[in-house]
Amino acid sequence: MSPITLNEIPDELKEFIGDIKSLTFPRQGWTSDVGILETTSGAFYALKRTKETLYNTWLEKEVDVLHTLCTETKLPVPQVRKFLAESSKNQSWALMDFLDGETLRTALFNETNLEKRRELIYNFGQILGEIHSTPCPGSLKHGEPWLDNMLLKAEYNFKCHNVDGTRDILDSIKANKPDKFKQTLIHGDYTIDNVLVHNGVISGVIDWSGGAYGDPRYDTALAVRPKPYAFQNEEDNTLFFKGYGSRIITNSDYDYFVNGLYEFF
Ligand SMILES: Nc1ncnc2c1ncn2[C@@H]1O[C@H](COP(=O)(O)OP(=O)(O)O)[C@@H](O)[C@H]1O
Ligand SMILES: [Mg+2]
Repeated sequence: MSPITLNEIPDELKEFIGDIKSLTFPRQGWTSDVGILETTSGAFYALKRTKETLYNTWLEKEVDVLHTLCTETKLPVPQVRKFLAESSKNQSWALMDFLDGETLRTALFNETNLEKRRELIYNFGQILGEIHSTPCPGSLKHGEPWLDNMLLKAEYNFKCHNVDGTRDILDSIKANKPDKFKQTLIHGDYTIDNVLVHNGVISGVIDWSGGAYGDPRYDTALAVRPKPYAFQNEEDNTLFFKGYGSRIITNSDYDYFVNGLYEFF
């Protein structure tokens, strides 16, 4: 079954979109349904729909972050055109500009030229460096310190949702926080599925619900996790951090974030 059917799209969105020529589906993420719409007048949109309160909250947060980044930074992120919370159905919708390209996952999978593949890994690091050196918009700098907030959410997710993390891991990450580090604008889920590539060049960064003023080591740790076709060896790590600008994480920071904190999200 399609992740989204045409008759599910609320009238308010349909009025804005106009006549729809096609609705296609990229590889789906875990927390939402995404369809790519083409209109008869030649416009393209990405339509993202979430269900259940937790994921609806994440989508609303993503929309806020995208509005802020679009107005206050030059980062390559999609502009949100419409957001709609359909409370009667406990679902939310965000209609945003479609960014040309394929995910970095697909690009790495299809790239047979070693030099071009290396360039993609280098650029994956470089764009993250740009995100972390972008002055963080004031509206994202609020509330608890990022890590304390994440630990509270981890505790909540452990109690209320199905997560991989265990009580032991949770106690350990609460007791053994990494050394303090300069906070920056962070993405919060910087993976090869959330970075788009067009004609061999990184064209966009999407999926910003974790965007915050937070610990940049978290983004770098998630980015360099080994996956099929990437980060299977030290060479990719070296290229990534060369693009990024410096190697900001130690092995134990990596372990804290990837095998610790991330197990609760
Ligand atoms: N604005 C966009 N432009 C182009 N493709 C997009 C856009 N937004 C999402 N996609 C595609 O949809 C997929 C899932 O979207 P994403 O926002 O990452 O959802 P999730 O939060 O479920 O991971 C992405 O990997 C990408 O292929
Ligand atoms: Mg995603």
